[in-house]
Amino acid sequence: MIGIFDSGIGGLTVVRALMKALPGYDMLYFGDTARTPYGTKSADTISAYAVQNSKFLIQRGARVIVVACNTASSVAMASLRRRISVPIFEVVTPAVSAAIEVSSGGRIGVIGTRATINSGIYERKLKALQPDVRVYSAACPLLVPLVEEGWFSQPETARIVKKCLLPLKVRQIDTLILACTHYPLLKAVIRRKAGRRVQIIDSSLCLASAVHAHLQADPLLDGRLGRCGRFTVYVSDITAQFRNIARQTLHRRVALQPAGF
Ligand code: DGL
Repeated sequence: MIGIFDSGIGGLTVVRALMKALPGYDMLYFGDTARTPYGTKSADTISAYAVQNSKFLIQRGARVIVVACNTASSVAMASLRRRISVPIFEVVTPAVSAAIEVSSGGRIGVIGTRATINSGIYERKLKALQPDVRVYSAACPLLVPLVEEGWFSQPETARIVKKCLLPLKVRQIDTLILACTHYPLLKAVIRRKAGRRVQIIDSSLCLASAVHAHLQADPLLDGRLGRCGRFTVYVSDITAQFRNIARQTLHRRVALQPAGF
C-alpha cells in the first residue's frame, strides 16, 4: 500500500496524479484536517505531526510514505528519515529537477506557504543543481483558504492570485513552481495571471512521476505494494467541506474514516 499524507485536503491533488501514474495501486491517504494549516506552524510542530502521520499510515499497511505536503517536505524530512524506516518520497526534489529542466532563462519563481518559503529549501536545492539560477520566492498564505472554500474561479481569487504573483512577474520569471498541494487546484487562474511565457511546474505531477520512476527501478519494493485498486481516506476531522472538495478533486465519492487523533 502507498501511504500519502498532507495537512488536509490539498494532498488529494497528489493522489489524483498518483492514480494516473500508477493506476490500480492500493493507496491510503491521511489528511490532517484537525491540525491544518501546517504552513503557519513551527518546524518542530510540523515535524512531530509528520512523524505521527507516517506512523499512523505504516500501522495501517503503508509500505512507502509519500509526503504530499510541501510544508512537511520542506521542514520535516530530517525527523522523518530518523524516525521512519520505510522508503519516503518528498515533493521538493522532483519539482526542483523539473523546474531546472524546463527553465529557458534560469529565472525561477516559487510560491508556497510561509513555512515552505521561509525554509529556503527550494532556493538551496535549485542552486545546488544550477548555481547561477535566479530564484524569486513568495509566500502566498491567502491561497490555501481560497481553495479550502472551493473558490477556484471567483473574481476575488483572480485578484488575489494576481497580487501574489506581482513580485515574481516584475522579476520576469520564466518558470513558476507551485510549491503547495493546494495550488494545482488554482492552476488555470495562476497560469492566466502568470502569463503565457511562464512554464508552470505542478509539484504534484512531478512527485507522482518520481514515485513511478522509483518503483520501476525497484521491483522488490514495487512487488510489496498491493494492486487491488483499494483507496482509503482517513482524516483527523470529518467535515462536509472536505467531502465536497474531495469529490471535485478526484471526480468520485470518497468515504471518510476518522483517524482517531
Ligand atoms: N499542504 C500544505 C503544503 O503543501 C498547504 C496547506 C497548509 O498550510 O497546511 O504546503
